[in-house]
Amino acid sequence: MILDHRSHTALPEQMPGSAVMPVCQLSALPEGEVTTITPPGMSPVSIFHTDEGLFAIDDTCTHQDASLADGWVEDCKVECPLHEACFDLRTGVPSGPPAKIAVRTHEVVVLDGVIYLKLTTGGA
Ligand code: FES
Repeated sequence: MILDHRSHTALPEQMPGSAVMPVCQLSALPEGEVTTITPPGMSPVSIFHTDEGLFAIDDTCTHQDASLADGWVEDCKVECPLHEACFDLRTGVPSGPPAKIAVRTHEVVVLDGVIYLKLTTGGA
């Protein structure tokens, strides 16, 4: 099942050079919901289920220390709850100040009803 342009159907084991981890059952993350996980050795990652699909980004705003999972989601963007910078969930790029740096994005895979993350391990 492909849910967005970054999703694909390759088995997680078939993704070379990537860190893949399961998140939860797709049924446990209905549209409009967000969940946050902390992969070992990494900062928290939030997975948003929007009407445009599933998107994963680093959870911490690049401006200050706010959780984007607590933000407002609209038109595939999340608004930081602290100072209202908006980040595109597809690219991680902020649309304006005060944030100037993109949040890191991660690929999302749904396979057999389970959401997996293919983690981006470099910089944003
Ligand atoms: S902490 Fe997110 S915009 Fe300031």
